[in-house]
Amino acid sequence: MKKEIVYASKLFLEKTKSKQIKIISHFDTDGITSAAIIARTLKKLDKRFSVKIVKNLENEFIKKLNTKEVLLFLDLGSGSLEELEKLENSVFIIDHHEITGNAGENTTIINPHLFDEEEISASGLSYLFSKALDSKNKELANLAVVGMVGDMLGKEISKLNNEIIEDAKIIIKKGLLIYPATRPIHKALEYSSSIFIPGVTGNFKGVFNLLKESGIEKENGKYKSLIELEETELSKLITSILMRTKQKTEDVIGNIYLIKLSNRIEDARELSAMINACSRLNKSEISLSLCLENKNARKKAESIYVKYKQHLISALNYAEQNKIEGKGYVIINAKNQIKDTMIGTVASILSMSREYKEGTVIIGTSYDHEKIKVSARISGRNGRNVRELLSESMKTIHGECGGHQKAAGCLVPKSQENQFMEILKKQLEVEVVKI
Ligand code: C5P
Ligand code: C5P
Repeated sequence: MKKEIVYASKLFLEKTKSKQIKIISHFDTDGITSAAIIARTLKKLDKRFSVKIVKNLENEFIKKLNTKEVLLFLDLGSGSLEELEKLENSVFIIDHHEITGNAGENTTIINPHLFDEEEISASGLSYLFSKALDSKNKELANLAVVGMVGDMLGKEISKLNNEIIEDAKIIIKKGLLIYPATRPIHKALEYSSSIFIPGVTGNFKGVFNLLKESGIEKENGKYKSLIELEETELSKLITSILMRTKQKTEDVIGNIYLIKLSNRIEDARELSAMINACSRLNKSEISLSLCLENKNARKKAESIYVKYKQHLISALNYAEQNKIEGKGYVIINAKNQIKDTMIGTVASILSMSREYKEGTVIIGTSYDHEKIKVSARISGRNGRNVRELLSESMKTIHGECGGHQKAAGCLVPKSQENQFMEILKKQLEVEVVKI
């Protein structure tokens, strides 16, 4: 794939010689870090460009794009090839989502699904593209690590990801996957949405009981951070956590990535969560600004992040109390009770909680004005292809759909809510019979 990236980077330079570039990227951590990597690269090259962050790539949006610009899609686009082919513009796509249809003559696409299927984030690809444009861009590798962690690809490191990690000169430690590993442990535990601990997550009394039970006490009036804990303290803490959840040791232990951003050592998971939080509360300009290392962005992002964590805890509580469980699936039909931008995160957290059997399909739905946002996930590592499941359910419905095997989403017109839910349930049941 490296060869194709080099080819695409050369073509990109040629096509953008005298043209303005429009970067269009997805609003989650992977999309934001991709946009930041490319924006910083283009700035160094003295290119004229603008950035647009979107939560979905809708056909109506594509139709209205300025025909004079070179379009660069990041972390999205692979599902809209037909629509993009109709444009007069030169189009570049750097994405890792599944591809539907064929690319038109105007479109150059960098996507691992075309080659060896190695798992890599869009920010990882954007970084490799940036390095192909100028090998001196290694300082942008840290952002690619944040995107990689944001897309949960930090567990098993593939070859390409390993190259990025090496370029980033980061510190990797094995430890408990509760973040931030760099700040006092009681705070990290209270908001531990990465590992949902019943009676502890969102419950500060529960946090203190857990710490007491694990023999962890304040020193000089302060709790230590995770990376400062002694080995025996850490191992007792892990035992106490495992007693409270259905998780296994391998779910709660993993690599902690410590990166440098704006001269500060940060837990990549925390940064990823913070970027995500800003975007999902409609402040993607702040998440981008944080990745561009603009002054004051960190403070603003932190205060939005606090609000987001409160929203998330109440969304998880809502989901717990209102879920509909069927054979092999769980549906959370949240309507206006969970924000459309957070329903995917709720579904992701449930899918990782081990509350449900491996392969259970988790569906979350929530209203977004005249549309319904649908997010689908698979519990555990194996199961059916949820992108195919949603595409099947959308066959007779007018709307956008996309994603990958384990995570997919779609937008359904509200007027077709009942029709969609009926087809979806049928699809969910059919597969159970087949198995
Ligand atoms: O690929 P996309 O970034 O837009 O993914 C969004 C969500 O899908 C994230 O919450 C991520 O955890 C989840 N995901 C997953 N498995 C993958 C890729 C993404 O669960 N292989
Ligand atoms: O929105 P959600 O987090 O549920 O999306 C899951 C995955 O599906 C993500 O990778 C997202 O980028 C993708 N997706 C897509 N097209 C859509 C909706 C979601 O490619 N219309």
